[in-house]
Amino acid sequence: MQTRRLSLSDDSGDLADLHGRCFTPGWSAVDFDTYLSRETDDVIGLYTGDILAGLMVMRTVADQSDVLTVCIDKKFRKKGAGRILLTAGETAIAARGADIIFLDVAEDNAAAIRLYRSAGYVQHGRRSGYYRRPGARIGALLFQKRLPRAA
Ligand SMILES: CC(C)(COP(=O)(O)OP(=O)(O)OC[C@H]1O[C@@H](n2cnc3c(N)ncnc32)[C@H](O)[C@@H]1OP(=O)(O)O)[C@@H](O)C(=O)NCCC(=O)NCCS
Repeated sequence: MQTRRLSLSDDSGDLADLHGRCFTPGWSAVDFDTYLSRETDDVIGLYTGDILAGLMVMRTVADQSDVLTVCIDKKFRKKGAGRILLTAGETAIAARGADIIFLDVAEDNAAAIRLYRSAGYVQHGRRSGYYRRPGARIGALLFQKRLPRAA
C-alpha cells in the first residue's frame, strides 16, 4: 500500500465515492475540490495499485492540526491500512511544522478508538451528545497526539 498527498489534478469523484461508502452522508466531489485547493489542508490518499483504499483530510493552522476525516474502504480494513494512513498524515503535518494533532470520534466507534489509542493518541476530553444519529445523540471523545519536534 502506498500513500500520496493529493492535489486538484486527482479525481475528487473517487474520493467522494469512497467517503460516501464510509459515512452517511459523505462529502461530495465539490467538497473534496475545496479541501484539495485549500492552503491549510492536506488530503492524503492510500492506494493499493490504482485503487483508492483510504483517505484522510487534515487542516493545519500554525503548529496545530485537526483530522477532519479518515476512512478505509471496508474490504481493506483490519489489515493495518488505517495505521499507515495516520502515519502518512502525521508526516505531512510535521513537514508543515505542526507538532500537535487533534481529532474527535464517536464514543461507540470501537475500531477508530482502538486505532487512535494504539497509534499514541491520548483522550483529553469528551463532548456529550455531539453526534446526531437517527433517534439518538452520541458523545464524542476528544483525542490529541503530540509529535516530536523536528530538529
Ligand atoms: C477506523 C478505521 C479507519 C480503521 O481502519 P483499519 O484499516 O481497519 O485499522 P487498522 O487495521 O490499521 O487497525 C488499527 C487498530 O485498530 C484495531 N481495529 C481495527 N478495526 C477494529 C474493529 N472493528 N474493532 C476493534 N478494533 C479494531 C486493530 O486491531 C488495530 O489495533 P492494534 O494496533 O492494537 O493491533 C476504519 O474502521 C474505518 O474506515 N471506519 C469507518 C470510518 C470511520 O469510522 N472513521 C473514523 C472516524 S473518527
